[in-house]
Formats: sequence, structure tokens, C-alpha cells
Amino acid sequence: MRLFIFLACAVLGCLGQDANTYRPQFHFSPHENWTNDPNGLVYFEGEYHLFFQYNPFGDEWGHMSWGHAVSRDLLHWDQLPVALPEQDGIMIFTGSTVIDQRNTSGFCAGGKPCLVAVYTGHTPENGSRPALQTQNLAYSNDRSRTWTKFKGNPVLDLHMSDFRDPKVFWSDESKQWIMAVSLPNDHKVRLYGSPDLKQWRTLSDFGPAGATSGQWECPELFQLPVDNGHESRWVLKVGLNPGALQGGSGEQYFVGRFDGSRFTNDNPSSLTLWTDYGKDCYCALTFNGLPRGENPVMIGWMDNWQYAAKLPTSPWRGQMTAPRKLSLRTTSEGIRLFQGPIDSIQKLRTASSQQTKAHAFEMKSSVPLGTAQEVGWKILAADRNFTIVGYDRQAGKIFVDRTHSGLTGFSKDFPARTEAPLALADNVLRLDILVDRCSVEVFAEDGRIAMTNLVFPPPSAGGIEMYSKGGQAGAASVKVWEIRPGPK
Ligand code: FRU
Repeated sequence: MRLFIFLACAVLGCLGQDANTYRPQFHFSPHENWTNDPNGLVYFEGEYHLFFQYNPFGDEWGHMSWGHAVSRDLLHWDQLPVALPEQDGIMIFTGSTVIDQRNTSGFCAGGKPCLVAVYTGHTPENGSRPALQTQNLAYSNDRSRTWTKFKGNPVLDLHMSDFRDPKVFWSDESKQWIMAVSLPNDHKVRLYGSPDLKQWRTLSDFGPAGATSGQWECPELFQLPVDNGHESRWVLKVGLNPGALQGGSGEQYFVGRFDGSRFTNDNPSSLTLWTDYGKDCYCALTFNGLPRGENPVMIGWMDNWQYAAKLPTSPWRGQMTAPRKLSLRTTSEGIRLFQGPIDSIQKLRTASSQQTKAHAFEMKSSVPLGTAQEVGWKILAADRNFTIVGYDRQAGKIFVDRTHSGLTGFSKDFPARTEAPLALADNVLRLDILVDRCSVEVFAEDGRIAMTNLVFPPPSAGGIEMYSKGGQAGAASVKVWEIRPGPK
């Protein structure tokens, strides 16, 4: 018994947590076991489908399969049985799902559209042969409740150990399916085209460009209007692990044009743009199948490969970011990606106040810098623990400091202060912050900067406090809403 208590303390820090202390309230986390990347996001017949890299047998990476959850509002998720299990020693790595409206694949039954998943099959190396990664198909004719793997798999095999994470969509430009897939060690995204999802033809390569110090993973290519007008650009987003801005895994994006077969970067290839300036947003994916004219909605894995296997949560490990609405806007530096929580999160808000003791809340604030050199908020505060979201005027940087946020000692890479350059036009700091027990997602200046970080505060942590240094900040305005998911 003593040994048990000792072990439990070693894992949970003996701060009074029970197994679900950190369980997020409005972010998706599996009931139990390990998850990493979101996969196959698709909206189909009134349901949002979230598949996810999943180990059905434990809370560490392994036996990768596609877990599955559905939602009608992106905020309440029902976890369903595993959609695509590991089979014959072949793991199911990251990929995407498309709606085959016109049965181009021949998989659809009864004259109705069907869902086709395109995923990487990963055969681990064994003594006699290296690992193999190939691209494969599976299909469903019953609204994603059951799946059949295509007998003709794989559909793409370069006999390579690293060739993964296909993102597929229908291109109106070239009237064919497009696959963006990563050649991780070459720092390239290869584009393929296909009439039927089965036969693929190489169209072009993009890269190396931007940040290249780690492997390139999880490419994503989508179109967005600029400034909500008639002009549009394409965004090519690429994961990088390790070597991202804040260490470990993180993501960059390129803004450019796509003519149906080639992506051209608008910016010099030396320019690196980061999608998120925190440590914990990786392999984000947008939904296929959203109604025409709706801007993409993106969900990422809220984690970092540096310490994902050590997170002090139980009986699950890993969770997703909040669904984010995306836009492209013209700034003085050029066209940049903006992100914010989807509007429907507002439906989960309770009456607003200026304070809360809740552990799941949204906080919107604006603070004039006044004469202060540094202003910010200490949130999830209790005793000597707090997470700071602040602005350093001299450096012109927004930051999140989680070095005193609570449990940090499970990995040397966890205690961190993450920063992003941010010019404040009128010297007012405007923040939208989502907190959900063990995560802090900051959207600054209407989403110009996103900064996502996990935190593991003590259960009593719930205070919010403004502070300023080196002068007097102006009068802050703040609204806090507890977020209560409630019934569906
Ligand atoms: C990214 C990643 C992908 C791969 C998957 C395996 O986090 O490494 O490249 O498909 O995870 O779980």
C-alpha cells in the first residue's frame, strides 16, 4: 500500500489530484489511452468526424490506429469504436478523409456519396528490413460507423521509410484529387493528382524552404480569402519535429498560390512563418466537407513530442486544441494567418464577470500599456503558482510563462516562457484567452498571434490578477465567462 501511494505521488505530485483532475471540459481527449495527431477531419451529413492517432492498448505511443469521435457542434464529442485498427503489423499513421461525391473511387454503394480515408501504412523495421511507409485507402458506406480497407493497398509506394501524412482534397482548378504528402527528411511536400484516389501521378515538389532543422510532417494545403474579399491565397502548413521555434515540435506555414498542380510561395524561401508561438500545437488539420464558402476550421494536437509521453494525466494522454476559425489578413508585414476560437464556443459561456475561480473559462481583455514597461495577467493563480500571459514593451513581445504554473518537473523541456513578436498599434494589449484545466490558448490582437501551452496547476489554482511593471498601466477592461459544456 505504501509503495502504491509512493508511486501515485511520483506520478501525480501528491497535490490532491484524482485521475481526472486535468480532464479538459470542452477540448477533445480520449476516454483513456494515448492520442497524438488529429486525422481525417471531415464534416459529413450533419456530423463532424474527428479521427485521431490512437493506441487502443496503452497511454504511450504504439499500435497506432485511428480512434474516432463525432460531434454535431465541434464542442461535445462522442467517442466511437476504433475506426481503423493496426492490422498485420501495419500501423495506421496520419492521413485525411474525403467525401467521394461522384463515386470516382468505385467504393460508394447505392448511388450515394461515401467516405474515403487516405492514410499512411507504417510497417516498423525489423532485423531484416527497414521501416516502410506507404499511402493507403479505406472506405465507409455507413456514415463512418464501419470501414473497409481497400484490397489493392498500397496506392502509393516509393519503398521509403519516411513518406507520410497524406492530406487529400478535391481541386476545382484541375478537376482531380490532390494529395499533399511529406518527404520528411528531404524537407519537401510532394503533390500528387488522381482521378479516382487509386492511381496517383506526381505533380510537383515544394521545399526545402523556411525552417528545415527537423523532419517535415503533416502537410496541409487549403485556400482562404484575403481580408474576406474576392482575392484569395493558399496556405501550405507543415509540421517540423524537432527544431521548431520553441523547441521540439511546432508548425510553419507558407502563403502562396496553387494552380491545381503546383504551390508557389509568395515570400522568399528564407522567410519562416509560425502558425502558433506556444509549445503545444502540432499537426493541425482542417475539415474537409465544410459547406461551400465557409472558412476552414482547424484542430491541432495540443502537445509536444519533447514530453508527450510524460504528461501527468491519467487514464488518458493527449488532447486536441479548440477548433479554430482561420482567416488571412493583410498586415504591414504581408499577408498573415489569423486564428481564433470558433464562434460557437460562445454558446457554452455562462454570464460574464470580471473574476472566476473556474478552471474552464474564456477571458477577453484589453489593457492600455499606459506608462508600464510590462503588463499582463497571472491566471490559474494559487499560492506560489500562476501562469503569466504578458507583454514586454521594450522587446515588443507577447509571452506566456509557465515556469511557475504548477507541475513542471516531469520533463526538463516543460518549464518554459514562450514569446512572439507583436507590435501594438495603439499601445493597447488585446487578448482572448481560452483556459481548460490544463491548457492555455492565447489569441492576441484579434488572432494575429496564437500561443498554445499546456499547464498543470494545483487543483486550488483559479485566481486571475492583473499586474504591471516599470510604470502604470491604463484602466483594463476584462470579461470572463466560465465555459460549461453542459448537455448536448
Ligand atoms: C506526427 C507523426 C506523423 C505520423 C504520426 C505517427 O506527430 O509523427 O508524422 O504519421 O505522428 O503517430
